[in-house]
Amino acid sequence: MTPSTISPSFAHVYEPATDAAAGTLLLLHGTGGNEHDLLPLGKAIAPGAGLLSPRGKVLEHGMPRFFRRLAEGIFDEEDLRRRAVELADFVRAAVEHYGFDAKRLTAVGYSNGANIASAMMLLQPGVLPGAVLFRAMVPLVPDPLPSLDARVLISNGRVDPIVSPQETERLAALLRRAGAAVDLKLQSAGHQLTNADLTAARDWLASTSR
Ligand code: MLT
Repeated sequence: MTPSTISPSFAHVYEPATDAAAGTLLLLHGTGGNEHDLLPLGKAIAPGAGLLSPRGKVLEHGMPRFFRRLAEGIFDEEDLRRRAVELADFVRAAVEHYGFDAKRLTAVGYSNGANIASAMMLLQPGVLPGAVLFRAMVPLVPDPLPSLDARVLISNGRVDPIVSPQETERLAALLRRAGAAVDLKLQSAGHQLTNADLTAARDWLASTSR
């Protein structure tokens, strides 16, 4: 039975796939973004894919985020855990409601959106079979680690003032220890995305959908 509403609810955009083989992207914006921000990016890296794009519910000085932080790069772990479960529940409810294939769902997150995506993978294994993480850091280290059957592309910036290359390596190592197949790209870039990120994501998504 299709529920008439999605619970838990998030303000969101859903655009169904025009090419079923392209799957669906879960678009997760950065701090201060909204559900419209990453739609053009989603269309550019996976033409024809369905797009599910929620808006984070936490407001930091009016700027939407997916979980609270105490300072730059210092996360409120209790809030992060709660929000990751809530977003995973939203995703499961959206799969039921809109009827897309959960096995062909790939999260595409930028910065805070990438961090909630990897937190969801680590805390709610199974909900995200794939993820493209742009400018991502370690969100938390669960103990015990889950056992993941997931593919991940991390595309971070070599000169990012917020995420160091060491932090990028730490995230890749954590996800690999949990069993994920991780591809890592360090772009000649800072925290902002560049065309090289989009090309890397498009090529990676095309190679994983074969
Ligand atoms: C951000 O500005 O969004 C941070 O660098 C990442 C985060 O807080 O999750």
